[in-house]
Amino acid sequence: MRPLDPAHVEPMLRGRFGRPYLYLAQTDSTQRLLDAAQPEGAVAVAEEQTAGRGRIGRTWQAPASSAILVSTLLRPPPGREPAQLTLVAAVATAVVVERATGLAAQLKWPNDVMLDRRKIAGGLAELKDGAVVLGIGLNVNQAPAELPTETKAVAGSLRSVTGRTYERAPILADLLLELELRYDAWRDGGLDAIYEDLGSRDFLRGRRVTVDGVEGTAQLITREGRLAVATASGPLLVESGEVLFDR
Ligand code: BTN
Repeated sequence: MRPLDPAHVEPMLRGRFGRPYLYLAQTDSTQRLLDAAQPEGAVAVAEEQTAGRGRIGRTWQAPASSAILVSTLLRPPPGREPAQLTLVAAVATAVVVERATGLAAQLKWPNDVMLDRRKIAGGLAELKDGAVVLGIGLNVNQAPAELPTETKAVAGSLRSVTGRTYERAPILADLLLELELRYDAWRDGGLDAIYEDLGSRDFLRGRRVTVDGVEGTAQLITREGRLAVATASGPLLVESGEVLFDR
C-alpha cells in the first residue's frame, strides 16, 4: 500500500482543494497544521496522529497508514453556519465511500458516516481566527482487531465491512474533489443545496434514539441542520450533542 505523500496524491488532484498539500508521516493532529493564513482549500494529511481529535473532546485513533486523516482550511461566508460543515463533510465522504465500495453509506447526524451500521468516518469542524478547519477521519484498511472498541457506535473500516483493502490515494483525491463540490454548493445555496443527498442517507430517521437522556424517535434532519426527534412530551429540535441509537 502506497503512502499519501505529495508524489502520489498531487497528480490525482483535479480541483482547488489540496493546494497547498501539506503532508507529514506523523503529527499530533492534522487540525493543528492549518491556520487562517493559508488559502481556502489548503489541506493537511498525515499517516499517523499521536493526538488525533474527535468531537466532544474525544480522541481519534488509527494505526499508521491505515486511514485517511485529512484537514481542510475553509472560509465560509458570513451567514453560513460553520456547524453545518460536518454534514457537508459527511455527505461528501458517504458519496466517495459508495463509489469505492459499491455499497450504500449513510450519515448519522451530525458528523458520522456509517457503512453496514458501523461508524467508518467522522468529521470535525473547528473555528480558527474566522476560518474553519474541517477534519475528516476515514477508516480504510484497519483490520477488525485494529478498530477502536471503546466507541459508542461500533467502529468499522472499508476493509472490515467489505473484506478488501484499498489504495488510499485515489480515495483521498476523490474525497477532496467531492468535498469541494459539496462545499461550493453549500456556500452558495446553504444546506438546501445538498439536502436531497443528505436526507436520502439519513441513518437515524425512524430509529429509536436517546439524546441527553431523553428518548424518542428520530424524524429527520431539518433544512437548518438540526435533528428533529418525536418524544413523549412533544417534538424536540436538537442543535448539537450526541445521539445514541438502538441497533
Ligand atoms: C469524530 O467523529 O468525533 C470526528 C473525528 C475527526 C477525526 C479527524 S482525523 C483528521 C483530523 N485530525 C484530527 O485530529 N481530527 C480530525
